[in-house]
Amino acid sequence: MPTHVITGAGSGIGAAVARRLHARGDEVVLHARDAGRAKELAAEFPGARTLVGDLSEPDRLSWALSHQSPPDRVDSLLHIAGVVDLGPVGDLTPKTWRHQLNVNLLAPAELTRLFLPQLRAARGHVLFVNSGAGLSAHAGWSAYAASKHGLKALADSLREEEHADGVRVTSVYPGRTAGPMQAKVHQQEGKEYDPARWIDPESVATTVLMCLDLPEDAEINDVTVRPGR
Ligand SMILES: NC(=O)c1ccc[n+]([C@@H]2O[C@H](COP(=O)([O-])OP(=O)(O)OC[C@H]3O[C@@H](n4cnc5c(N)ncnc54)[C@H](OP(=O)(O)O)[C@@H]3O)[C@@H](O)[C@H]2O)c1
Repeated sequence: MPTHVITGAGSGIGAAVARRLHARGDEVVLHARDAGRAKELAAEFPGARTLVGDLSEPDRLSWALSHQSPPDRVDSLLHIAGVVDLGPVGDLTPKTWRHQLNVNLLAPAELTRLFLPQLRAARGHVLFVNSGAGLSAHAGWSAYAASKHGLKALADSLREEEHADGVRVTSVYPGRTAGPMQAKVHQQEGKEYDPARWIDPESVATTVLMCLDLPEDAEINDVTVRPGR
């Protein structure tokens, strides 16, 4: 059975992906921000292993993982966790910038570095859930969009670097997807939130599984998913 390390499995898109992989009998190793959250995930996904580390502190991830038992085999590393905080550049403080850059960009880079030996050995797959904001930035979105533009650069460089070792790299760019993050975005935009207007996280999960399940002769580099309504 393939082994998938998944961040963000506690909510939204990450939870939908984790449920699908777990239901079909794949090994899932669920990353959680702290021990309490890891316990909740372990209860929700019987048989799943967990790893603990706060993505807002990428400098500490290496130390945190060295005190746990990371899996020996990793067929895919799915970077799905993320945070968003809107605001005009004139109002955004370094703290707000740093938090989004840490969780959305530096932590994925660091986790990738830490799991690359296993990924190379398995000729595995690194998949980044990016965002439409990783391709174009709009007013009010600077810090989040910068973190996601950076995530695109990370994925593109990694793909070139690791191609010879057979590691495949995919970026998925969803548009607005229903869930807690989108509810927060609407609140910050001062708009009414209607989840039925936006992509179902299950549809993004379907896209992620399609990328993972493609046979080894091919790799999906980038895929954009937009609301269909
Ligand atoms: N929702 C959208 O409209 C949309 C659109 C485009 C792209 N995306 C991207 O899709 C991904 C998933 O979004 P979503 O809508 O599923 O978001 P979500 O429901 O808010 O879930 C975010 C996940 O990230 C985890 N997380 C946040 N900060 C963390 C930290 N410091 N350490 C460890 N884990 C942390 C959360 O952990 P807890 O469960 O412990 O809170 C949660 O599981 C994100 O990368 C987002 O940028 C979302």
